[in-house]
Amino acid sequence: MNDTKTPAAPELRIPAEALHAYVRAIWERAGSAPREAELVADHLVMANLSGHDSHGVGMIPRYVASLADGQLKLNEHARIVRDAGAVLSIDGVKGFGQVVAYEAMEHGIERAKKLGVCAVGLRNAHHIGRIGHWAEQCAKAGLVSFHFVNVAGDPLVAPFGGIDRRFGTNPFCAAFPREGQTPLVLDFATSGIAYGKTRVAYNKGVKVAPGYLIEHDGTPTVEPKVMHEEPFGSLLPFGLHKGFGLAAMCEIFGGALSGGYTTRESTLEKSNAIINCMTSVILDPNAFDAPAAQAEAEAFVDWVKASPLQEGVERIYAPGEPEEARRAERGANGLPIDPTTWQQIRDAARTSGMPADEIEAFASQLR
Ligand SMILES: NC(=O)c1ccc[n+]([C@@H]2O[C@H](COP(=O)([O-])OP(=O)(O)OC[C@H]3O[C@@H](n4cnc5c(N)ncnc54)[C@H](O)[C@@H]3O)[C@@H](O)[C@H]2O)c1
Repeated sequence: MNDTKTPAAPELRIPAEALHAYVRAIWERAGSAPREAELVADHLVMANLSGHDSHGVGMIPRYVASLADGQLKLNEHARIVRDAGAVLSIDGVKGFGQVVAYEAMEHGIERAKKLGVCAVGLRNAHHIGRIGHWAEQCAKAGLVSFHFVNVAGDPLVAPFGGIDRRFGTNPFCAAFPREGQTPLVLDFATSGIAYGKTRVAYNKGVKVAPGYLIEHDGTPTVEPKVMHEEPFGSLLPFGLHKGFGLAAMCEIFGGALSGGYTTRESTLEKSNAIINCMTSVILDPNAFDAPAAQAEAEAFVDWVKASPLQEGVERIYAPGEPEEARRAERGANGLPIDPTTWQQIRDAARTSGMPADEIEAFASQLR
């Protein structure tokens, strides 16, 4: 079972606050302003807390490599390149996605509150991570949102019927705020599993479930190494032609409509950069003639949860509830980090200029 790379090692646990301080310190050492380091730490640690380790602190080594390639730009901000009222076109200028997407959403939220709706096209952002984070930012302001994202020039997924990688794991996200509760948040990669989940499995030395990966010649496999060692295989879209279709629309809305770019031979990314483009539609539910929208949504959630459970299933979750449950558990017990990922983060901290004794001080907080 564990013959992928190294034997599975026991997980480490680290309190969220300690990890947050570590991430902040790494980016301040690398040259980020304190607010940038804080936004990056907020985002990455929240991804781990929410159970999406693929988009958490395990991304730091890749970001450090992208910075060394001269791709990730520190201390950049979202630039509005066209203001058409209810449509904003924003350039992320390869700045930290955790900063430029935050700022793009702030602009969109402000405009949607004024006009009832705002579409934001964000182009050329460095990796914007867990898309649910941006939907939650809108939901905190009481707003509904949909987000279509492409991973520009970084093909990992084969089209329905094809056998080689042609486009990215293009996530889709939609959120609906709920009164007095965490919002409903649907947030997923349009590949069967996110690429980062193959990295986590590879680092842990475990296989992935069947149905998600093919080898370079199209043979189905459960070995995550096909995404990390040559000859490279591909991820498959979720849900056959339907997932492929949604991925294609994420590519077009995210990459083309935003003023960014789509994935093809001439745009293939050769460096460690991960470039995301996102088209977000942000809506004020109060602008609709729908005073019962909250009650209608709650009635539906209650109705589906009343379904008799399949054997072995403990409860029915609404979208976003698994992450909420994970945040409660991990907030109490600390964040699990596998030793390989932890070592990769230590190496990245050293590359960023953090002295060995400071790295050791953070490491001593592991349980
Ligand atoms: N920035 C990028 O380039 C990029 C690319 C791909 C993915 N991502 C991010 O990766 C993260 C992980 O994506 P993923 O595809 O692995 O997510 P996933 O397969 O874990 O699906 C998550 C979604 O499904 C819901 N869900 C999960 N289990 C459920 C259950 N039992 N019942 C009901 N709903 C359930 C969750 O609430 C959530 O909305 C996402 O946050 C996504 O935004 C980012």
